[in-house]
Amino acid sequence: MNTTNPIITLRGGGTALIVELAHPRPRIIHWGADLGDLGASDLDALVTSADPSATHNSTDEPRDLTILPTEADAWSGTPAIEGVVRDGSPYARFVLASHRFDEAAGELDVTLRDERNGLVATVRYRLDRFGVLDVGTTVANESDGEMVYDVGAVTALLPLPDRATEYLDFTGKWSRERSPQRGAIDLGTRLRESRRGRSSLDSPYLLIAGTHGFDFRNGEVWAVHAGWSGNQRYLVEQLPEGAGVFRSILGAGELLLPGEVGLRPGECYQAPEVSFIWSNAGLDGLSGALHRKLRARDTHPRSPRPLTLNTWEAVYFDHDLATLERLVDAASRVGVERIVLDDGWFAGRRNDTNGLGDWIVDTEVWPDGLWPLVDAVREKGMQFGLWFEPEMVNLGSRLAQEHPDWILAPSDGVGAAIRHQYVLNLAHPDAWEHILGRIDALVAEYGIDYIKWDHNRELHEAALRNDRDRAGVHEQTLALYRMLDELKRRHPALEIESCASGGGRVDLGILARTDRVWASDCNDPVERQNIQRWTAQLIPLELIGSHVGAEESHTTHRVTALSFRLATALFGHAGIEADLTRLSREELDTVTAFAALYKELRPLLHSGDLVRGDLADQESVLTGVVSTDRSEAVFSWARLGTSAPAQSGRVRLPGLDPDRGYRIRVRDEIGRTSLHENPPAWLVQAAGDGFSVSGRVAGGAGLPLPTLDAQQAILIHLTSH
Ligand code: GLA
Repeated sequence: MNTTNPIITLRGGGTALIVELAHPRPRIIHWGADLGDLGASDLDALVTSADPSATHNSTDEPRDLTILPTEADAWSGTPAIEGVVRDGSPYARFVLASHRFDEAAGELDVTLRDERNGLVATVRYRLDRFGVLDVGTTVANESDGEMVYDVGAVTALLPLPDRATEYLDFTGKWSRERSPQRGAIDLGTRLRESRRGRSSLDSPYLLIAGTHGFDFRNGEVWAVHAGWSGNQRYLVEQLPEGAGVFRSILGAGELLLPGEVGLRPGECYQAPEVSFIWSNAGLDGLSGALHRKLRARDTHPRSPRPLTLNTWEAVYFDHDLATLERLVDAASRVGVERIVLDDGWFAGRRNDTNGLGDWIVDTEVWPDGLWPLVDAVREKGMQFGLWFEPEMVNLGSRLAQEHPDWILAPSDGVGAAIRHQYVLNLAHPDAWEHILGRIDALVAEYGIDYIKWDHNRELHEAALRNDRDRAGVHEQTLALYRMLDELKRRHPALEIESCASGGGRVDLGILARTDRVWASDCNDPVERQNIQRWTAQLIPLELIGSHVGAEESHTTHRVTALSFRLATALFGHAGIEADLTRLSREELDTVTAFAALYKELRPLLHSGDLVRGDLADQESVLTGVVSTDRSEAVFSWARLGTSAPAQSGRVRLPGLDPDRGYRIRVRDEIGRTSLHENPPAWLVQAAGDGFSVSGRVAGGAGLPLPTLDAQQAILIHLTSH
């Protein structure tokens, strides 16, 4: 071998990471496809060919991309570690000190020391059997004296090859989360930041780089996600000189505010875990690896995901026991399994201008406490859930009046209100104890099964009033995590939903301690089809709350067919967000049939592989779930708007086993789908006794899917025979 440096290979799920433990700093020589068992000569060739050329007007020696690139490597791109010795130098030179390789666990820790300042950085790479590579970096101040190291940024970075030429990431706003945006990876830095104190409605979510034209089923793709619920940043960056032998870099990390993290001797900053995923099978390949990883967690919800009714869009703040009892009764008759009482139950909360912070049941509206409602829910064998917004406060609340020092805002006055509310400093030990105590007491008193944990404003000027107005987003995020962890410890069966003005806090940090997310406040199925299919890019369907709303959407005012709304809600953790007492007998029958269908299909929907069709017609959405043994599948074929072609032609159903025969049936329990044409012959059969077809034909040649009227969906169910 040309090198005497140890070469470490992590392999899992068809992916490999190969690291050369070079001095002074190791480098990554491969991230992507598992190259198989490389012999000494192959490794030798890989190492030798990892040396780039020295370009003109550049360093005399070729510039490498190390695992911790900084100016010490003559690296002119985004550094992996930025920081400054307080009143001193920003320059740290980390040098390889030791490593620990646990082959069975797929884990490599690399420790580097900066002798100048007494700093120690450890980068942990863990590649799991699903092909997801988690990177965790810590920086510790191990100096002897008084030195304080102000951490600026720690960014996990991995190289991308020349053929990764396009990016895809996400943005959004209230009621339209996870809007995809796509473009060419150009020279320069594409930097996406969230400075909103939560992962946010416009979260980059998953930054994906890929080969030209990659789509759901095709292309080589590399992606990154920051498992963090506070401020964060994502980047893809290309310098003219490249990145060693690679073309560009992909990275993510926490966005720290100035002065937010100052390390005294003995202290350590642990950057959030950043996940990197590679796939040779397009976007579905990425989601497949991520979903399998999440499903394998000990904490992953395993019980059948209960059909949920949330009261928000049925009654809003209008809490009236008799009305709610009628709703509970109707819900139980259609087959609902969990009732969630949304905002409006606590003291002073008659609208959204007051009450946040006082987590005491409003005795005017609920003179006997929540008991009459809780009893009604339990008598019908359903679970009970309750809405909280623990990190928030209205200034008129008793809590804000008594403890102005608990507000996360500058000491000389709060800034702009958002939805009339401000943020409570959960990092304040007394505030943390108080809020935890209130939630804990209510959970214990009513035996609450489920909390909808909301967070309806961004954090601005998040000053720690109890600590010289230092920036406090980092500590707030950690305090939130501690509170969720403590609640789960005290109430192991409690489930928690992460909501933030809809889907404003969907990330793997919050999902390490919650059980589902509310994808969006928008239940309009035209919008929701896209929101859900892109939310599922990161997380599996059982974690995505998807409720059927009223005929007229409360956010877009679009009126849609019940069957389309139900077909859309099916592909998630389904529920109802509407006033069932207003539905006709016929509509209630359909919702009842839907509830039964959801219960029948949820074992498949919540364990199978998500597959999404690549279609020329942007108004069509093909979403399917295929069981892991490929014996069963369900597809939703949806049309959002009209389009020019009269025929959809043959459309391949992805993910099927070519060697199996399937019987296809139309599942019309959700109501009739309105077609724009006479149905093709196979569909007439599928709507009757069933249509038999092999996976080779349905998945290889495709079936002529019907052209639906706009805002319609049809469900087809395949079982192998
Ligand atoms: C947010 C949530 C909604 C609902 C309201 C209640 O907007 O996203 O689902 O809970 O708050 O105020």
